[in-house]
Formats: sequence, C-alpha cells, structure tokens
Amino acid sequence: MTQPLHVVILAAGQGSRMKSALPKVLHKVAGRPMLHHVIGTARSLGAAGIHGVIGHGADQVREVTPADDIQWALQTEQLGTGHAVAQALPQLPDDARVLILYGDVPLTRQDTLAHLADQVSDQSIGLLTVRLDNPDGYGRILRDADNKVLAIVEQKDASAEQLAVNEVNTGILAVSARHLKDWLPQLSNSNAQGEYYLTDVISMAVERGIEVKVAHPETEYEVQGVNNRLQLAELERWYQLNEARRLMTEGATLADPARVDVRGPLTIGQDITIDINVVFEGEVTLGNRVSIGPNCLIRNASIANDAVIEANSVIDGAQVGEGAHIGPFARLRPGTELARNTKVGNFVETKKAIVGEGSKINHLSYVGDAELGRDVNVGAGTITCNYDGVNKFQTRIGNGVFVGSNSSLVAPVTIAEGATIGAGSTITRDVEPEELAVARGKQRNIQNWQRPRKQ
Ligand code: UD1
Ligand code: MG
Repeated sequence: MTQPLHVVILAAGQGSRMKSALPKVLHKVAGRPMLHHVIGTARSLGAAGIHGVIGHGADQVREVTPADDIQWALQTEQLGTGHAVAQALPQLPDDARVLILYGDVPLTRQDTLAHLADQVSDQSIGLLTVRLDNPDGYGRILRDADNKVLAIVEQKDASAEQLAVNEVNTGILAVSARHLKDWLPQLSNSNAQGEYYLTDVISMAVERGIEVKVAHPETEYEVQGVNNRLQLAELERWYQLNEARRLMTEGATLADPARVDVRGPLTIGQDITIDINVVFEGEVTLGNRVSIGPNCLIRNASIANDAVIEANSVIDGAQVGEGAHIGPFARLRPGTELARNTKVGNFVETKKAIVGEGSKINHLSYVGDAELGRDVNVGAGTITCNYDGVNKFQTRIGNGVFVGSNSSLVAPVTIAEGATIGAGSTITRDVEPEELAVARGKQRNIQNWQRPRKQ
C-alpha cells in the first residue's frame, strides 16, 4: 500500500479563550508557533502534500509561515471540523491517505502519527484515541459489545451514560481521500452545536463496513490541545522537561532539569555542564566539556570543546573557539568569531569581531567591526569607534598588539603587529609595526598648588 500521504492541518478557529490579537496557532511553544511544530511533524512524515485550513487571522498565519510546500485553503466561516476539512478536499488527490491534524495540538510524535497513517486503506480508517481520567469536553468513543468502535458522540450531544465513557477522541484521524470525498458532502449539522462534525465520518464508515482501527499516543500530552494560556504553559513545561531528559541522556549534567529552556535544535557533546536558568534559542551546538554558568542566553551559536561561559553572559550569533573563557556578564553579538583560548570578560560587548587565538578583551570594552590577530591584549575600557553616525568602519589589530586602557580606536584604522597603544589614547591614524602610539594630553605637574578656600 503506497498511497501518498497528505496532511490536512485545521487552523481556522479563533481561539477566543487565548484573549489575544494573535491567532491561536501562532502562539509559541519552545519559541516556535504551534502551527510550525505541526508543519514540521507533517514534513518529518514525508507528506506528499500539506494543506493548511485557515480562517481567523488567515493573512497573519500565512505571513509568518513562509513555505512553498503548503497549500492553503480558506474557511471563511467556521461551520465545524467536517466543514473545515471539506475546504481542502479539492486539493487532495483521490488516491491519497489523509492525516488530519490540528494547528493547536503541537506536540504529537512522528511515530504515533506514522503508525496511525499506516492503518488507512480502502477498507479501513485510523482513529487516535486516549483514555483520560477527566474526559470532560471531549468527544466520547462509543464501542459495541465486541469492543468495536461504532461512533463518536460529542460532549454536548451525549447522554449521561455516554458521558461516563473515558475513552475520548483526540481529533486526529487518518482516512483515504476517496472516502472523505464520498462522506463529507453527506454530513449534516443537525446536532447540539449546529456544526458539521468531522467525527460523524466514524459512524458513516461503520455503516459502510469500513473498519475503524484505533491507535493511541504514548502520553496524553502528545494529543493535548491548547485552548488557553494555562494549557500553553503546561505543554511548554512538558516539552522542556523532555528536552532536559534528552540532554541528560546524551551526557549533559544539568543543575536543575526544571530550569533550562531549549527553544530550537540544540546539539551537544559529552560532559557538558549547564547551571540554572540557561536559555538556548535557535540552532546551538556545544562541544565536549563545555561549561555554562547560571543565567545565560545562548542563541544561534556554536561553542567549541572546553569553552567556559560564566554567569549572566549573552551569546548571540557567535562562534566560540576551543578553551575560550567568556564572561561573567559578557555580550557576544552576531558575527563574533573567537578563536581558541581567547578571553572575553565582564561588561565586554563584541559585534562582527574576529578575534585570533589567545587574545584577551578582559573588561569593559566595545569591539565591533574589528579583526584582531593572535595574542592581542585589549585593555579595560577600550572602544572601537566604528560608526560616524552614517557608516560603519573596520578596525584592524595585528598579532601581539597591546592596547592600553581607556583607548578609543577611531575606525577605519589599522594597528600593525607588535604595536603598543598608550593608555587613554584616541587613535585616529594607522600605527606601524612595533610603534608606540600615545595620543592624549601631556601631563603637567604644578608644584605647591593652592586649592581654593572657603571665604
Ligand atoms: C473536536 C472533536 C472532538 C474531540 C476534540 C479534541 C469534532 C466535532 N469534535 O472538538 O471529538 O474530542 O476536538 O480536541 O471534531 N476548526 C476549524 N474550523 C472549524 C472548526 C474547528 O478550523 O470550523 C479547528 C479549530 O481551530 C481547532 C480544531 O479544528 O484547531 C478543533 O476544533 P474545536 O472547535 O476545538 O473542536 P472541539 O469542540 O474541541
Ligand atoms: Mg477543542
């Protein structure tokens, strides 16, 4: 059975309980809109087609979801889940297996869904159900004496006896496009909510002798939808705890698995240590034995073996070389590339700075649009003046240069190999190799100076 898999993602609802101007499916879990998690899962299943059904905030949804592999279908009026899927019907090839997902159910595992999609044939459909201690609000699964699924009854249409059933519809199901095209036009909305229920396809299947094959998720979080911000936070914590477990399994020591947040793909080596309140965003790679102190933000960065990141540092769009020592209170901005054994200390900001092996910028400096060679020593309070209010200029510093404290290097400027800059200098001209440049008021000492006296 090699019918192509098409995924339909329902994302037209308003999500009024979020109390938000942002469409619900754009609220983020782990730094990424819920809808994008679902799209990612659809891709990981190797879907031949992905169809997003949008309505509320459709323009906004499309705008933040740039993707050529998604076909959008507009549901202008939200008349029910069956009506929503019907909007995508014309886009579905007849021979497709169709997996129906929800833009506000972000964390279903790929395995769970692949297994579900495997249940579909011309003679069967797949339904994902779960048993809940508290089934309140969900559609209930009705079975016959032989335990065969008969139908789904929505909470609002259910009898007292049916409400006692604790096996519920997750909403996720897989069915052939041929069946959908046959059944959806036959749905009626004569029910408690006056909606076209997708769930009615179950009883239609049963009436026509099509088998309903049931699958289950590994945990209920996988099928948990988000209706309000409390549920959003719950899913976030579940996601983060899983990430923390993964990191520990892969060889990281976490000071507290409940106090690390991973918002993007994080790849790690062995024997990493991560202290509390560390946030990773975007794509981050950590080499072996990297140590990260408390309260650090690390975004789109790669940090090589044996580097030490001390407390309260921000590393954004930077590469940190082997054995480098960063912080505490350092800020590396995009385009920073630090070679091996470099040091960037407290209250130092770098941006588009290429720093050679063994060089040190230990305190209170700004180094931007700069290229530093090997073994450069940048004294405390050094500023590369890279901006004249209109344009940015480059500072070049050769190997072994010593920049005295509190110097301003007015770019464009080159300080050649082995040169020395006297403390407090404002350097506006290039400095040749091995030269000493001093550019500051000369010191005058006046003897027996009389301070002013109070009259
Ligand atoms: C649905 C199921 C219910 C199941 C529950 C699981 C139906 C009739 N009921 O109920 O059996 O237990 O999900 O959470 O399917 N949507 C649209 N267009 C619409 C209506 C809904 O795109 O016209 C989208 C919503 O944005 C949402 C999803 O479909 O993402 C589910 O809709 P919702 O109204 O939450 O359905 P439930 O009443 O929760
Ligand atoms: Mg719902």
